[in-house]
Amino acid sequence: MYIILLGAPGAGKGTQAAYVAQKLKVAHIATGDLFRQAIERGTELGRQAKYYMERGILSPDELTIQMVLERLSAPDSKSGVVFDGFPRNLKQAEALDGALAQQAKAIDRVVYIKVSEEELLRRLSGRLICRNCQMPYHATDSPPQVWGKCDKCGGELYQRPDDNVETVKKRLDVYFAETAPLISYYAKSEKLIEIDGEGSVAKVGEKVITALKKEVINK
Ligand code: AP5
Ligand code: ZN
Repeated sequence: MYIILLGAPGAGKGTQAAYVAQKLKVAHIATGDLFRQAIERGTELGRQAKYYMERGILSPDELTIQMVLERLSAPDSKSGVVFDGFPRNLKQAEALDGALAQQAKAIDRVVYIKVSEEELLRRLSGRLICRNCQMPYHATDSPPQVWGKCDKCGGELYQRPDDNVETVKKRLDVYFAETAPLISYYAKSEKLIEIDGEGSVAKVGEKVITALKKEVINK
């Protein structure tokens, strides 16, 4: 099963992707996480991605698509993937469709997680993520059991440098200009499921799984 989670920065793609991947036993491919891991490791890919991430703009398509295709060729991606933060524009969407078609596969469903701009800003201003496994937390809504430490792996929690007010504003502008058009792209192919992303993490997670089960799993 190949699923895309689509939504604005802070909509909860990373939070729900981790849950969905575990529930459906498929891989979780998050381009933002892959870039941040490359930055942590100090690789050439990380050096290039840092420039764009700091500015809240998209990395070049060639860089991003090549990274995703490499990740997609790993054995754990064979039985399915939840894509989080990819594709981010039409060129990336077409590249993904093409790569899956070569393996006689296709995107099954695209879950669009809709959240108001006010709530996005509230979520991003309180977000903390794990330096080791990238799990997102929220200082008040979903705090870790031990302050500053990841529940899953014990890694250090930190605030993303691109979660400052100015860069968040830029990321939202980029989202509306470049990524939001994908909503109609996937609606046309009748793959889009729209989910109200407001409400608790558990409630939204339940809605996502229920919708996917109804549409795909029991098909
Ligand atoms: P990326 O890391 O993908 O960031 P993003 O799309 O801006 O999305 P976020 O990670 O900010 O939000 P999310 O929807 O995952 O929310 P989360 O679950 O964390 O991209 C960063 C940068 O990398 C880009 O700017 C670009 O430079 C580059 N990049 C990445 N992909 C690229 C691509 N394909 N092409 C080119 N460049 C690319 O949740 C947010 C917060 O809310 C958390 O604190 C969470 O705990 C909380 N929360 C979640 N759900 C709920 C809920 N239901 N109720 C209350 N709180 C909640
Ligand atoms: Zn962790």
